[in-house]
Amino acid sequence: MPKSTKYQAKHPDDRGFIAYTPEEDAVWADLYARQKPQIEALMARPYLDGFDRIALPADRVPQCPEVSERLTALTGWRVEPVPALIPFGRFFSMLAEATFPAASFIRSREDFDYIEEPDIFHEMFGHTPLLTDPRFAAFSQAIGKAGAQAGKDDFAWLIRLYWFTIEFGLMREGDQMKALGSGLASSPEELEWSVSGQPEYRPFDVIDILRTPYRIDIPQPVYFVLDDLDALFAAAERDLLADVATAREAGLHAPKFPPKAA
Ligand SMILES: [Fe+2]
Repeated sequence: MPKSTKYQAKHPDDRGFIAYTPEEDAVWADLYARQKPQIEALMARPYLDGFDRIALPADRVPQCPEVSERLTALTGWRVEPVPALIPFGRFFSMLAEATFPAASFIRSREDFDYIEEPDIFHEMFGHTPLLTDPRFAAFSQAIGKAGAQAGKDDFAWLIRLYWFTIEFGLMREGDQMKALGSGLASSPEELEWSVSGQPEYRPFDVIDILRTPYRIDIPQPVYFVLDDLDALFAAAERDLLADVATAREAGLHAPKFPPKAA
């Protein structure tokens, strides 16, 4: 997560609705229209099935209560608006309670192609389709529960698991590489890069993921590939804090990316 943002959180009314301006709705509509053919071509089936189930509006920013209503019926999850940046402790405890923390602002046109911090386009378009799948929902909640019991020193380890699955996971479908994660669904450039055959692909492995460092501000040089969502569901049953201890003992892998310029 970035350490600062120029964007202000938007505050919901008593019913949980946020008043977006016509321009903000238009930014949503244009982002949706650009990304829809991309996801149809490059995203994995579980995401696309979830996209149909969640049925987000194409012409305006979706509202948390309406999306929560659909999610709750499907997997018991809901979406709650939060400030753009929240502490990891709160982030994990919300996931543990099957509540997805959603940044409420939408990017401005000058950030149309790329924005480092999550905005509501990323949260809704990227995350909510996957949260309609019980296997994905269980795995998300398992990370939250582990984080809620973890010490602060464990947060960065657990976040790597979140990063390489929920945000940037891939899935093999037959002989095709497809994208699964939310950070890919909402990012035109990285979506194409992730399935281009150029990055390194490693099989989904919890310990290996926990040991793999990442940078948030560049396309990933390495992705982890699931063969099916059942593997994620199985991972939800693991003792993830014991896995963190194992990974910590083994140590981080050497980074595959250049150091960030100061
Ligand atoms: Fe995200």
